[in-house]
Amino acid sequence: MSAPQAPFTFFDNPEMMGNPFPMFAGLRQNAPVFKPPGSNMWMVTTYEDALRIIRDPQTFSSEVGQAPAEGESRPPTILFDDPPIHTRMRGLLTGAFTPRVIEQQRSAIEENCKIMVDRMLEGETADFIAGIAYPLPVMVIAAMLGVQDGDMATFKRWSDAIIENVASSLFEPATNALDEINREFDAYFSTQLDKLRAAPEDNLLSALIHAKDEDGSQLSQSDLLVICRVLLVAGNETTTGVIVNVARVFTAFPEVLGQLKEHPELIPSMIEETLRYYPPFPATFRRVTRDVEVHGVTIPKDDRLLVLIASANHDEKAFDRAEDFVIDRDPNRHLGFGQGIHYCLGAPLARLETQIVLQTLLPRIKAMRIEGDAGAVLVPGGPKEMTVRFELDRAYALA
Ligand code: HEM
Repeated sequence: MSAPQAPFTFFDNPEMMGNPFPMFAGLRQNAPVFKPPGSNMWMVTTYEDALRIIRDPQTFSSEVGQAPAEGESRPPTILFDDPPIHTRMRGLLTGAFTPRVIEQQRSAIEENCKIMVDRMLEGETADFIAGIAYPLPVMVIAAMLGVQDGDMATFKRWSDAIIENVASSLFEPATNALDEINREFDAYFSTQLDKLRAAPEDNLLSALIHAKDEDGSQLSQSDLLVICRVLLVAGNETTTGVIVNVARVFTAFPEVLGQLKEHPELIPSMIEETLRYYPPFPATFRRVTRDVEVHGVTIPKDDRLLVLIASANHDEKAFDRAEDFVIDRDPNRHLGFGQGIHYCLGAPLARLETQIVLQTLLPRIKAMRIEGDAGAVLVPGGPKEMTVRFELDRAYALA
């Protein structure tokens, strides 16, 4: 297996990434599967191809990183594993990631959301990322992993560092700084796991420790550490992304906020349309396990693909009025949470968090819009700050 080059030069043009959709439309039309010069990573841009690829893990493997050296093994990650390792980890995680566990987060999310919104609305403008989009998902994952309030600042530092490095660390050896963070992270969670093993608590991590798969086996300490890291990586930045993208929608399509105030029952479909229009996980990798033809192009065994979810979600062949924001789109078969065996396990949680943000914010404002540059739509990691101007709803203040 040869080492792929990281494809991020593709995302490096901030001007293009501010509104990449016209470029994607051109690619779907003229070069639906293509390899940028000097890269060995194929871009896949249509909905049909994207769906076929993510639904066929035998031909399109999720094991995209460098193969471990002879005699070494790589810890499982779930996201970048194929069956049978993936099947086992997913089974254990699904067993513990029940609707009850998700529902248990509701009251804490509501309480924290209210505090965060109150604080943001003290002025006419606020940093929407520092105010809510970033801290809310971190707080939720931290609570599920039993992280104490006093350890939150350290948890956030690890979260930032791991997320910043996650994609590049797939393709390149980890840096010393990342190694150090991983060691600190593992040491903290090893202690945490020992504590919870001795005295179970009512949180996700505790449930995972005690979860058993069909043959009665339990997750090992190293599996559990990997899961802590996956939840941190898979669950934080993406959820920050969808909350940020709600602000993008209210800015680009100002009528949507009024429609939601009048018809709050549209909140769930508005969230799905936000995930279609601005997917926070804009692309995913796969490796082909044999020579295979995609859209008339033969892709040699072991080459990597970047499946552009963001382009598939705007494919006019799959969605009527693909460039419009259709608040009540139904059906909405967007690929924002993926599809098939890797379909996002955290989707119900992400939906719940975004719903509560909207339910808390909407009665109190008449409009909100991003001030200045809204930043690139698709850069992994998203913008670091985003000033939003609010127009308060006086009727709420008087009520
Ligand atoms: C709006 C927020 C989110 C988005 C857009 C999102 C998106 C995705 C996507 C596209 C995949 C599939 C990747 C692939 O097929 O290669 C995925 C997988 C996954 N997500 Fe999410 N995610 C979100 C939130 C969360 C949350 C909150 C959690 C957990 C707390 C989570 C946990 C996972 C896990 C564990 C997987 C791997 C599943 C597997 O490989 O079987 N995600 N997510």
